[in-house]
Amino acid sequence: MAASASDELIRLYDLSKSFRLKGNTITALENINLSIHEGEIFGIIGMSGAGKSTLVRCINFLERPTAGGVIFDGQDLGTLSPAALRQVRRQMGMIFQQFNLLMQRTALQNVCFPLEIAGISGQEAKKRGLELLEIVGLSERANAYPAQLSGGQKQRVAIARALASDPKVLLCDEATSALDPETTDAILNLLKDLSKRMGLTVIVITHEMRVVEEICSRVAVIADHQIAEVGTVKEVFTQPKTEAARRLVYRVEGDPINFQQTEGTQLRITFEGGDAFEPILAELILETREPVNILHADTRTIDGCIYGQMVIQLPPRSDVYRVSEYLRGQGVAVEEVAAHV
Ligand SMILES: Nc1ncnc2c1ncn2[C@@H]1O[C@H](COP(=O)(O)OP(=O)(O)OP(=O)(O)O)[C@@H](O)[C@H]1O
Ligand SMILES: [Mg+2]
Repeated sequence: MAASASDELIRLYDLSKSFRLKGNTITALENINLSIHEGEIFGIIGMSGAGKSTLVRCINFLERPTAGGVIFDGQDLGTLSPAALRQVRRQMGMIFQQFNLLMQRTALQNVCFPLEIAGISGQEAKKRGLELLEIVGLSERANAYPAQLSGGQKQRVAIARALASDPKVLLCDEATSALDPETTDAILNLLKDLSKRMGLTVIVITHEMRVVEEICSRVAVIADHQIAEVGTVKEVFTQPKTEAARRLVYRVEGDPINFQQTEGTQLRITFEGGDAFEPILAELILETREPVNILHADTRTIDGCIYGQMVIQLPPRSDVYRVSEYLRGQGVAVEEVAAHV
């Protein structure tokens, strides 16, 4: 879906960030250009150290870019006075992996904290705080201290607190990485719901591909401090164009696939629809009489559609061309896999 310029909430232009450390220059981001639309849930993925956290901190100017800049809601952040920048930052909520709650304050007092800072009276802040806790489904625990809450509940408090200043965007840096899968799902559903109900734009930084699959509409892949690829989740996850994207999306969670020991030719096949592939594979074997080996197979659900991917191996002297053409004729995407991917 193409978005018109008026949909744009955030634009990063020619953004670079480097750090000086003991006389050395460390490049964290290089020439980033990215446009994020109002109301979308946008994912940013990349290996550890790629520059993801630096990127979110540049979006709200916690880090000032070394070059280039950020346009938020039509304002170039680099041109703003400190007071104007503080005002704009109130429109950007942020949540983290470690929740960052104030331990000596109750859930409600945590949520009220930014309201108090903004000069809202105690009574009014409390009323708004309770509303926010209601929105995140935590009204009953308003008077609990963080130590008495589960990880998922703590993240709900953090989300309520981030929403207190009525932000246009919520920046989430590994917000579900410390949570178990079930709690992760509950938090993701909450984010999705907030985006839908309040038109909130959400930027999700994660190393967990399934988080992106579950809630994002578009995704950017960062590799070597640059954007390797941007597209809809469907495009990037079913047809990654760059090696960096392939490495991330074809990785078994937490464990890179290693096909190196195998001989012959490997083909990656991507197809739409749950069980449609099995007859294709059966016919392929019948048709070509090649002893096809399945090295890896899994499915992903993106946007309610199921996609399957398989890596098959053909023995050294098989007719790779014929097999590929046969599969393409069946309407599935086929590509040869480099041994190290
Ligand atoms: N304040 C800083 N001073 C010096 N170097 C920094 C600073 N912040 C980040 N870096 C460097 O910038 C690069 C990108 O770091 P960043 O934290 O953005 O990566 P990341 O993609 O978030 O990684 P992870 O997935 O491990 O959180 C790294 O090489 C890091 O060491
Ligand atoms: Mg990080």
